[in-house]
Amino acid sequence: SAESALRRGGNGPSARRLFSSISAPDRKVAVLGAAGGIGQPLALLMKLNPLVSSLALYDIAGTPGVAADVSHINTRAKVAGYAGEEQLGEALEGSDVVIIPAGVPRKPGMTRDDLFNINAGIVKSLCTAIAKYCPNAVVNMISNPVNSTVPIASEVFKKAGTYDERKLFGVTTLDVVRAKTFYAGKANIPAADVNVPVVGGHAGITILPLFSQATPASNDLSHEDINALTKRTQDGGTEVVEAKAGKGSATLSMAYAGAIFADACLKGLNGTPDIVECSFVQSSITELPFFASKVRLGKNGVEEVLGLGPLSDYEKEGLENLKPELKASIEKGIKFANQN
Ligand code: NAI
Repeated sequence: SAESALRRGGNGPSARRLFSSISAPDRKVAVLGAAGGIGQPLALLMKLNPLVSSLALYDIAGTPGVAADVSHINTRAKVAGYAGEEQLGEALEGSDVVIIPAGVPRKPGMTRDDLFNINAGIVKSLCTAIAKYCPNAVVNMISNPVNSTVPIASEVFKKAGTYDERKLFGVTTLDVVRAKTFYAGKANIPAADVNVPVVGGHAGITILPLFSQATPASNDLSHEDINALTKRTQDGGTEVVEAKAGKGSATLSMAYAGAIFADACLKGLNGTPDIVECSFVQSSITELPFFASKVRLGKNGVEEVLGLGPLSDYEKEGLENLKPELKASIEKGIKFANQN
């Protein structure tokens, strides 16, 4: 048995295999859009995650090469590439977590909403397939505009009769990653020690970092500093789009953020306690039907949507200012899903 193998104190491969199968159950992760700028480094990072036993890499083209490449890394996950719609079902079947970075990214001068016309259709068709082939999977939506693509996904799942609001997440982790980095830099604190909740949505002013709740607290930051940090977090994506000058948007930092969030979902599914991340989810903490805030993750996805906590006056104002735009983006997604 596993116990006797452990009692024998064996460090050989069989004891290790038994041990890892006790601590980490089999989990299949599918990445849709896996040949893209985000998809490739995200595939790499998921291959490095010991919680993943099977990694399915799907794209309309290019995934056999990415899969062959990543599959040579000597970690636990078995990797398979799937290219073209006829292989989508096989890619999805049995998935515990589906990560979606499929779709076009921004070019300089574009807002995330400018991507709506192309990405809404892509997300709709991918979610239709998820409802069919892995209706119980946790979905991590990266494709922009997240403020609309998450509502689209919810409507597709509702129509298919598979919607579980606990299992649909808009990935806003990159906003948190940026807020932490910028705050740490300004406050002169090691970045790895910092925590900053980011709430609202994932576009421009709908991104609301709560620096008043940042830990460790810093008393050195002026109102101007907080204002500048808030703006930089909100415009972080645009900073990258402009620096890449037409060659796309954030891919490496996004892959990192996506891997952090997927890892949190896997830990939640596996029953690891106290896994909390910010995410854009179905919510009743404001009057809006979807909202990003801290979420406790568990065996069924969202275990608890946590409230906003005490806000500064500046944050209260930011919260009221973001609501009309976020509401409109949510409604746009819902309308699209029901018209097309
Ligand atoms: P990319 O263009 O480099 O890659 C996108 C991939 O999606 C391509 O390989 C393409 O073939 C694939 N694709 C297109 N239609 C597909 C379909 N129907 N099924 C499967 N795959 C399909 O773009 P990148 O830079 O990887 O960005 C992807 C998305 O992520 C964009 O919508 C971008 O705006 C979004 N994004 C989201 C962030 C967030 O914080 N949530 C941050 C950065 C980007």
